[in-house]
Amino acid sequence: MGTPTTPISRNADDGLLCGFWYPAIRSSEIHGGELRQVTLLGVPLVVGRTAAGNPFAMRDACPHRGIPLSDGNFDGKLVECCYHGWKFEPVSGQCREIPSLMPDSRLNPEKIYAKAFPAEENDGYLWVYIPDPEAPSVPTPPAPRLPVFSQRYKITQLAADLPCHVDHGIIGLMDPAHGPFVHQAWWWRTRRSIREKEKTFEPIPNGFRIIPHAPSANSAPYRLLGVYGKPITTQIDFVLPNMRFEQIHCGDYWFSSRTTVTPVTASHCRIDFCAAWNIFAHVPFLLSIFRFFGSRFIDQDTQTMIKQARGLKHNPPLMLIDDADRPAKWYFALKAAYQESRRTGEPIKHPIAGPTTLHWRS
Ligand code: FES
Ligand SMILES: [Fe+2]
Repeated sequence: MGTPTTPISRNADDGLLCGFWYPAIRSSEIHGGELRQVTLLGVPLVVGRTAAGNPFAMRDACPHRGIPLSDGNFDGKLVECCYHGWKFEPVSGQCREIPSLMPDSRLNPEKIYAKAFPAEENDGYLWVYIPDPEAPSVPTPPAPRLPVFSQRYKITQLAADLPCHVDHGIIGLMDPAHGPFVHQAWWWRTRRSIREKEKTFEPIPNGFRIIPHAPSANSAPYRLLGVYGKPITTQIDFVLPNMRFEQIHCGDYWFSSRTTVTPVTASHCRIDFCAAWNIFAHVPFLLSIFRFFGSRFIDQDTQTMIKQARGLKHNPPLMLIDDADRPAKWYFALKAAYQESRRTGEPIKHPIAGPTTLHWRS
C-alpha cells in the first residue's frame, strides 16, 4: 500500500489545467452591453453578451498594441478598442474595421483576429473553454451542466474567493476529515458527532465516485429529508479539473449540487457552488434559508483557507495521510495522468484500478 504519508510537491509548474471549461462569471453580473473583465488561469479576459444574446470571451488585449479591450466600447455587436478604434466581432474575435485605413488600403481587417475563446451560458454562469496550447486539435467538449431530475426546480448559486492555489481549494473540497472541526454548528453537526466512516469509491471517466449510499446519520440536513419516509441515497463524484457533484435522492425528491474551484491565478481561486432541488417546494422562504446556511458553510471553508494561506506563504513541508487524504492523492494522480495523456496523445491511464473502500473518522 506504499508509504503511509506522501509529501505534497512544492516545486511543480503552476499546475493549472488547460483543455477544460471554467465558470468565468455569474450570468446575472453581465448587464446589457457591458464589458466585464475576468481572469481565468492567469489569462485576462473580456467577457459579455451580444445584443443577440450570444456570450463571448476574448483575451483582454487588443491584437494591435495590447491595450485591454475591456476599456473599449461595446454597442451590443462590436467591441471598439479605446486606443485606435479597431472594431471586433467578439464571438469570433474577427476585426471588422480599422478606422485609420485609406479606402485603397490592401490590408484586409477581417484577416486580423483578437483571441476569442468558446463561451457558453449554463446554470447561471458564463463558462469559458481554455484550450490546451499543447493540444490545439483536441475538439471542444460540451460545457458542463448541473444534472436536474424534474421539470420544475429551484436553483441558486453561491461563491467565495480563496487566497490559495486551486489544488488546496480542491483537496479541501474532497477532504472528509475537516468537517467536525471546521463545520461545527448546532444546525449541522458537532465535534462530538465524530464517528467511523466507511465509503466505497470507484473510478469514473476523469474522476472518481463515492458509490450511492445512505447519507451519514450525523448530518442534520439529511435527517430532514427523513420526513418523506423514503430511503435516501447520496452519490458524490469528483471530476477533473475541479468539479464535485453531489446528488441526493429520496423517492421523486432530489437535491443536486456542483461545487467548482476555479483557478483565477496561480495563487487565487474561487469556489462556485450551484444547487438545484425540488424538495420542500411548499416551505416558504426556503431559497433564502438555504442561501443563509449555505453561505455560512462556505464561509467556514473560506476562513479556514485564509488561515491556511498564511501558513503556506512560508512554504512549509506538507503531507497527505491514509485514508482520509486518499481522495486528495487520487486527485494529484488524476491530474498527472491527464497531463501525461495530453503529452503522449494516448488515452488517460486511470490511476484507480477498481472499487476501493476507505475508512476514516469524521
Ligand atoms: S491598440 Fe487597439 S486599436 Fe490600437
Ligand atoms: Fe468544507
